Amino acid sequence: MKVLVVGSGGREHALAWKLAQSDALAELHAAPGNPGIAALAHCHPIRMNDVEGLLGLCREHELDLVVIGPEAPLVAGVADHLRRAGVTVFGPGAAAARIEGSKSFAKEIMEAAGVPTAAELAAVRAPCVVKADGLAAGKGVFVCRTQAEADAAWEQARALGDSVVVEELLEGEEVSLFALTDGVDTIPLAPAQDFKRLLDGDEGPNTGGMGSYSPTPFLRPDEIDELVETVHRPVLAELAARGTPFIGLLYAGLMLTGDGPRVLEFNCRFGDPETQAILPRLEGDFLGALAGAAGGALGGVELSAGPEAAVSVVLAAAGYPDAPQAGVQIRGIEDAEAGGALVFHAGTAVRDGRLVSAGGRVLNVIGLGGSVAEAREHAYAAVERIDFPGAQFRRDVALRAVRVPG
Ligand SMILES: Nc1ncnc2c1ncn2[C@@H]1O[C@H](COP(=O)(O)OP(=O)(O)O)[C@@H](O)[C@H]1O
Ligand SMILES: [Mg+2]
Repeated sequence: MKVLVVGSGGREHALAWKLAQSDALAELHAAPGNPGIAALAHCHPIRMNDVEGLLGLCREHELDLVVIGPEAPLVAGVADHLRRAGVTVFGPGAAAARIEGSKSFAKEIMEAAGVPTAAELAAVRAPCVVKADGLAAGKGVFVCRTQAEADAAWEQARALGDSVVVEELLEGEEVSLFALTDGVDTIPLAPAQDFKRLLDGDEGPNTGGMGSYSPTPFLRPDEIDELVETVHRPVLAELAARGTPFIGLLYAGLMLTGDGPRVLEFNCRFGDPETQAILPRLEGDFLGALAGAAGGALGGVELSAGPEAAVSVVLAAAGYPDAPQAGVQIRGIEDAEAGGALVFHAGTAVRDGRLVSAGGRVLNVIGLGGSVAEAREHAYAAVERIDFPGAQFRRDVALRAVRVPG
């Protein structure tokens, strides 16, 4: 098969890396890709929202499958355009991608499907969580413990758009649970946890994610199937019943509360950075699963998680998230890889033959091991081998998981 991966982040590097292991892969392309992906795929300077450019690639290279990584092109309807032109696409059309693109639509679907989620509040009364309705790159949600915070959050959320969701503030462990789907059949992937705040101890500003690990001790294997049964399947059935089946990866962000799991949100694509910890563990025919989902034939595909754990630590540029410093030279990736780690590029570029920072989150460094504790040690040992002046990273990725008994 000839496959195109759309996107340029660490998630897309992980997708490309996993796809490149498939015997059935004939050619791998990326648009636009990044310097890490370029070692695995032909990268084309086409933006991820450029439908005509992507269609041109599909025709020129006779591509069999397009895998769209990020949410923005999905919510914008890029998958619809490609499908209408006869291309096989992994990723939902705009109507189903609204499950991520609109928080109020997600609430409406959950209510119709009977899926447990945070209760909506009629007034902006702390404690509460205030959410701008549309895509906000992680900057539209405000967790408010005081009334002053809630009032300020309301103003800020309103400034992002007219529609705002206010819901109860839930407490518990947060986990991410992904399911691949062709609209009817589903395959759950291993659960993961991510680390959204910039600093250790969940302090500092929200980011795109500073690390992740899988598996998580906070969900037992039998709970995974039960969650997919009570969360993913009813939502997929509801979307299909509305004539807008979801094809691709449905990501449930869950809070494991004392009263049971509650959905915080859905995403319409692989999570970044969870994917970087999930895919290195994945066993089975990944390309077959993506092609099966895209082609309406997921039934019969088997995927499982291997026995190893994975911990992924993000190296972010100095100044991230406000003003990440670009152009800082990075060395030592080969040393980290020689020690057994995986390094996925996110915000890098090659300038004058040197690898430099070119974004906020720059690298994902993944350690593998027989336990989360061992994977964690391997990840941080690899981080030490990378020379990236000013890099910011969390030192407590997966630390709580290591301390969970049993
Ligand atoms: N009802 C809630 N109770 C407690 N925390 C929440 C709630 N909703 C969201 N959060 C926190 O805010 C983060 C971002 O919210 P989320 O709905 O995932 O929006 P987005 O990812 O679009 O920014 C979550 O990962 C979670 O930590
Ligand atoms: Mg989220």
